[in-house]
Amino acid sequence: MTRLFNLIAIQDLAREDIDRILDRAQEMEEISKKRSNQLGSRIMACLFFEPSTRTRLSFESAMLRLGGKVLGFADVGVSSAGGKGETLADTIRTVERYADIIVIRHPLDGSARLAAEFSNKPIINAGSGSEEHPTQALLDLYSIRKMKGTIDGMHISLCGDLKYGRTVHSLAMALSKYDVRIRFAAPSQLEMKPAIVNEIIRAGIDVEEVDNMADAVKATDVVYMTRIQKERFPDVNEYNAVKGQFRIRLEEVSLMKPDGIILHPLPRVDELDPAVDATPQARYFDQVEAGVVTRMAILDLILG
Ligand code: CP
Repeated sequence: MTRLFNLIAIQDLAREDIDRILDRAQEMEEISKKRSNQLGSRIMACLFFEPSTRTRLSFESAMLRLGGKVLGFADVGVSSAGGKGETLADTIRTVERYADIIVIRHPLDGSARLAAEFSNKPIINAGSGSEEHPTQALLDLYSIRKMKGTIDGMHISLCGDLKYGRTVHSLAMALSKYDVRIRFAAPSQLEMKPAIVNEIIRAGIDVEEVDNMADAVKATDVVYMTRIQKERFPDVNEYNAVKGQFRIRLEEVSLMKPDGIILHPLPRVDELDPAVDATPQARYFDQVEAGVVTRMAILDLILG
């Protein structure tokens, strides 16, 4: 088993590494309530060059529950990178002198990998462009395992913006390490990247692709819905052509397995009707809670 140092991409982890993180997250359920001082002398820097509510605050909550300290910025405009044009490399070379671990979200693909090249301290990727969001994938797996009792044997639909959505890229690659069936459901303009589909098929996963919500939700154990990523479209007309096409309303919930669950990395816009929130299938706010224990586990395994 490899020692966890950086966490940049799901493909850097073997299944046994992922299982170890999920097992540690389960142990963190109790510790998160009682609090602990096991990272009492450690400092985590959060560098968010893009907006975030869940990822940044759950990382901060995780570090504080383990007794650590946090610093950083949540708006690039208040940093020298935004105001004065400082490079990412120089920002990282500086912040590594102030903190024991760096959590970074950045709009460019490859940014977290680049940051790791300039840092002697561990780097955690909290979202790099439309490429990867590995800690979200880990909390998604933890949620599935907790809510369904297993990941192996699950039939999972990944729905919505599969082209620009970084959470589904990481989650699909993570699921490919388990014995699952995957259904990709997206408008034709937003299909999953062929490179990822091919990688998953090579891993021996049974893959199906559909282009409408009714087929997306039928007969699967987990419906993983995502927002159309307006901010990543090069052309607003391309976004206008697909917006509102993929939605889960009570009508779609009625087509699901009675014990099926709906997950969503959030934030949502209009793709999840608020009327769905009151159904037993809606588990996305429980999923949010899994973010804290999963990130406690990651920080503990890297720094502990
Ligand atoms: N799921 C997720 O990454 O949410 P935030 O953008 O609020 O961090």
